[in-house]
Amino acid sequence: MCGIIGYTGKSDAEPVLVEGLRHLEYRGYDSAGIAVLNEDKIKIHKSTGRVDTLADICKNSPLRGCTGIGHTRWATHGRASAANSHPHTNSSKTIAVVHNGIIENHTELRQFLADNGYKFVSETDSEVIPHLLDYHIKSGGDFKESFLKTVRELKGSFAISAVCRDAGDKILSARKGSPIVIGEGEGEMFVSSDIYSISDKTDVIYVLGDNEVAEISRDCVEFSDFDGNKITKTPSEIKHNSYLEEAGGYDHYMLKEIHEQPRILKSLLSGEKTLSDIKNTPFLAERVKRTDKIYLLGCGTAYNAAMTGGIVMRYLCPVNVCAVMASEFAGGFYDVDDKTLVIAVTQSGETADTLSAMDFAAKRGAVTVAITNTQYSRADTESDFAFYTRCGREVSVASTKAYTAQLAVLYSFGVFLCNCLGGDVKRAEEVREALLKVTADVHLSLGLEEEMKTLAGHYAGCRDIYYIGRGSDFVTATEGALKMKEITYIHSEAYPMGELKHGPIALIDRDTPVIAVDCHPDLHIKTESNLREVVTRGADAVCFCPDGITHNGVRCIHLPETHWITAPFSSVVPLQLLAYYTSVAKGCDVDKPRNLAKSVTVE
Ligand code: F6R
Repeated sequence: MCGIIGYTGKSDAEPVLVEGLRHLEYRGYDSAGIAVLNEDKIKIHKSTGRVDTLADICKNSPLRGCTGIGHTRWATHGRASAANSHPHTNSSKTIAVVHNGIIENHTELRQFLADNGYKFVSETDSEVIPHLLDYHIKSGGDFKESFLKTVRELKGSFAISAVCRDAGDKILSARKGSPIVIGEGEGEMFVSSDIYSISDKTDVIYVLGDNEVAEISRDCVEFSDFDGNKITKTPSEIKHNSYLEEAGGYDHYMLKEIHEQPRILKSLLSGEKTLSDIKNTPFLAERVKRTDKIYLLGCGTAYNAAMTGGIVMRYLCPVNVCAVMASEFAGGFYDVDDKTLVIAVTQSGETADTLSAMDFAAKRGAVTVAITNTQYSRADTESDFAFYTRCGREVSVASTKAYTAQLAVLYSFGVFLCNCLGGDVKRAEEVREALLKVTADVHLSLGLEEEMKTLAGHYAGCRDIYYIGRGSDFVTATEGALKMKEITYIHSEAYPMGELKHGPIALIDRDTPVIAVDCHPDLHIKTESNLREVVTRGADAVCFCPDGITHNGVRCIHLPETHWITAPFSSVVPLQLLAYYTSVAKGCDVDKPRNLAKSVTVE
């Protein structure tokens, strides 16, 4: 959610930190700040709003020094303000700290520190950290000892980096729950909460594990546990993958990412690459053999992918299959044991709700499989098996290419499970064949772009939009409504088509446009009657359906002819485009919608 960056080396830290914050801004973007060490002082710049505002401040008043830390924030404890933004310091400003996560015992710590004369200037939980560090240093510890004492006393989940005026070029970092990586360069070191953000600076990284501390100076990195016991770590090599790749001639990353879908799907699906990835995991086949129920988990768009994956797996596998919102799973409402397979879908691999659901399942003996876009993320490292969606960096906060890539892996995994669990082989073959056509279908759907642009002008002035569908078309409708609401702020709701008349139809009138998705050949007639219900109440209805299908009094937008089971790939594309162009027409910040963050690391 928030982002951490740190640098110590031979160059000025400020430009490296500001650039790093730009890379991290997608994680959270209501305020940002940096702290740079300059011999006898720590100097700090902070601002609310975007990193650009901070960059302007730095331009007018540069901070000199070769060691520093920075942070981009998504407010949880305390509103977005300069006082609440990080880095936070002790009163004498000899220590600066940046923090991701939540300090659960901050109230007790605040009280303890206040009783010892400490004054707080922010409403954040994070501010207890520099004061506690100060308290331990004043009690006689050096920077490292005091840092270790401090992290041992913190409850909750966190990634922390700290600098101290009296500790030279040193940056100390700790991880408990929230990710943090160290990048090693020539005579310089980087810290980041996000592997991609430093991947254009170095290809040698160390992933900090839970309850571990990294001590870096420009020439050396050492690791320990929270008790100071040394840990030996081997570095990993990462491929250059600059986050700040340009939007490639597109006006926004979201549009670029929508257009990337055919290429990504081609590489995931053609040549059975994804399938062979899974097949090459014989141990997995052995582990899932006893499965008698499957839960698919995720949040937001990833949950929508999980719902569609659930429909496919129910079609193929002779076991109970259920998609559950990850945030609803750990409450004990679901039966989980060692015959359970839990498939967690998460682009970032860091979503707290999904991780705690996985943990809940693992503790009850379930086999856990992560479908993620982020290697070395917690979902990757903490699951029994992980498959990568390999769709490259998704920069736009609204997920598009990750969604269809998740579908590709879920469908392929469904076929694999069908074979392992003695499912319907003919159906597996049917799905496998349908998948071969998906790339071309998605490409054809992109051909609807101009039409979506025109249609968007029509929706931009709306207050509410209703999306309807049945089965997997309902899931597509849900994903379309989610895209629309998050980037246009128009109230958009999806309902199973048949459910509309049981209540929500009371809301339908001439000012509530209805968007229907109708791709299942057996359901066109039911769709026709449900559409009649809304049209007779004055609603302006549009229906996305295959070529050749018409509905009375309804504008039909024709999708490529496809098997109903794989229709979710191509039917979601025009809905993504429609949301995108409506957002543009309304003048919204498409790639960074208000109140949202790309990686949601709090429950
Ligand atoms: C919507 C969106 C979110 C995410 C959700 C889960 O466009 O991006 O709904 O899908 O926060 O994120 P991951 O997949 O990283 O677990």
